[in-house]
Amino acid sequence: MAQGCENWWRDGIFYQIYPRSFQDSDGDGVGDLAGIHRRLPYVKSLGVNAIWLSPIFASPMADFGYDISDYTGIDPLFGTMEDFDALLAAAHDNGLKLILDLVPNHTSDRHPWFVESRSSRDNPKRDWYIWRDPGADGSEPNNWLSEFGGSAWAYDETTGQYYYHAFLAQQPDLNWRNPEVRAAIYDVMRFWLEKGVDGFRVDVIWHLIKDAEFRDNPPNPHYVEGRPPNEKILTQYSTDQPEVHDVIAEMRHLTNAYDARVLIGEIYLPLHRLMAYYGNDLTGAQMPFNFALLSTFWSARSIEKIVEDYEKALPKGAWPNWVLGNHDRPRVASRVGPEQARVAAMLLLTLRGTPTLYYGDEIGMHQVAIAPDDVRDPFEKNVPGIGVGRDGCRTPMQWDSSPAGGFSGTRPWLPLPEDHIHENVANFEADARSILNLYRRLIALRKACPPLVSGDYVPISAQGDLLLYRRQFEGKAVIVALNLGPEPIAVTTSAIRFGSEILISTFLDREGERLEGVLDLRGNEGVLVVPPH
Ligand code: NOJ
Ligand code: MG
Repeated sequence: MAQGCENWWRDGIFYQIYPRSFQDSDGDGVGDLAGIHRRLPYVKSLGVNAIWLSPIFASPMADFGYDISDYTGIDPLFGTMEDFDALLAAAHDNGLKLILDLVPNHTSDRHPWFVESRSSRDNPKRDWYIWRDPGADGSEPNNWLSEFGGSAWAYDETTGQYYYHAFLAQQPDLNWRNPEVRAAIYDVMRFWLEKGVDGFRVDVIWHLIKDAEFRDNPPNPHYVEGRPPNEKILTQYSTDQPEVHDVIAEMRHLTNAYDARVLIGEIYLPLHRLMAYYGNDLTGAQMPFNFALLSTFWSARSIEKIVEDYEKALPKGAWPNWVLGNHDRPRVASRVGPEQARVAAMLLLTLRGTPTLYYGDEIGMHQVAIAPDDVRDPFEKNVPGIGVGRDGCRTPMQWDSSPAGGFSGTRPWLPLPEDHIHENVANFEADARSILNLYRRLIALRKACPPLVSGDYVPISAQGDLLLYRRQFEGKAVIVALNLGPEPIAVTTSAIRFGSEILISTFLDREGERLEGVLDLRGNEGVLVVPPH
């Protein structure tokens, strides 16, 4: 790789696998490690460099693995430690890095630490969690709300105090102001790093430290009716406290003791707050996830602004990254529509910074409608009917047109959409111009083209639905022209010189075309252009 192995995560492309939904190998309708292992050749064929696995650890599955009861054990649903070791070895043999999900903010309420903590007020682990006395009238200690609906405080009869849970009541928050908690989680990190995992995606990293005084959060003056109820108050005191950066610096210090590992932070914050997660002198996360594209209005001007603001805000030396989808947000193909999904792919793979792909986006999987009886997501169950459910973006990978899509031999834990009989890997492999092959071509081009990996991002002025930029590196340049709308656009800019050549179109039908001054873009088309030699 161009920049040597320490920097593999800069040059690389990440692929997120939601383990429950990638491949079932034992016929229980839920994906597992052996299934992922079996599908490694496919992952490799995409050309990505690293896999991030959502949690695979022992868990009662109240939040599908984000409620952990043993940080160093594999949940039997996913397999055994032998399965994990085999997967890790096979990934490495195939030149793929493997990133695990670290969930340090909260455990399961069945974790032995919490069982002890709740057993009595003077248990040595009492302070490992966040316990507070009720208000004078027995009410909650403050007005903090759970992200999944209702108060963030659960009353415990046995000891007469409330404990804090930013998510489900089955996910009590650890007290990161307690040094023993830090040491315990750092041991967990060392356990996996010693095994050879290549880093962590750290769950809700901006939540780790809460206000020392537990002050009430202020109301949100911009709350929009119909949005989730927790948005009625801001999270000023419950998240993003300055001391969190000391914790992250400790985590980074720990991973730095190992070769070439990466820390990715899950952070939903406005731009200027997000940037702080690179840490003082870049001693924080190498990749604080940039989720700006997950919620943007899909227009050329909005995206241009997002990229410009992000590029400007980056601290000196900080490496950018981009995300189009994950297991918490609606599928990109549904947010932008199937035509624009191809343009989105070109955008993701040509912006400056490390791209993270969400499994299934490369075959244009859309949000799947979930019947009320099929709802599994606790968020949807707690806050029903307003569209917060995450099941629709977590459905089984569509491998082929068989009833369970090649995912499982039995009824999968979540349904596949009917159109999976057309929209699947097997069909798209056979179709030279499918979105799957577009992803593969874009990834291959990116890897072979230093301007796309390491080049500067230079915006080129454009109007309407046209998004135009140049990636430039050591005298070489690639021009990216994206039509974010359905109407054709004639692009006339001095940036596209006579005799320039089309490297690729999102329709995969114009490779090698020479341009004579004007670039005619069809509706919903993106192209990469190289200047004449
Ligand atoms: C963020 C994860 O991505 C989400 O899936 C989970 O429900 C919450 N953290 C709680 O762990
Ligand atoms: Mg299984």
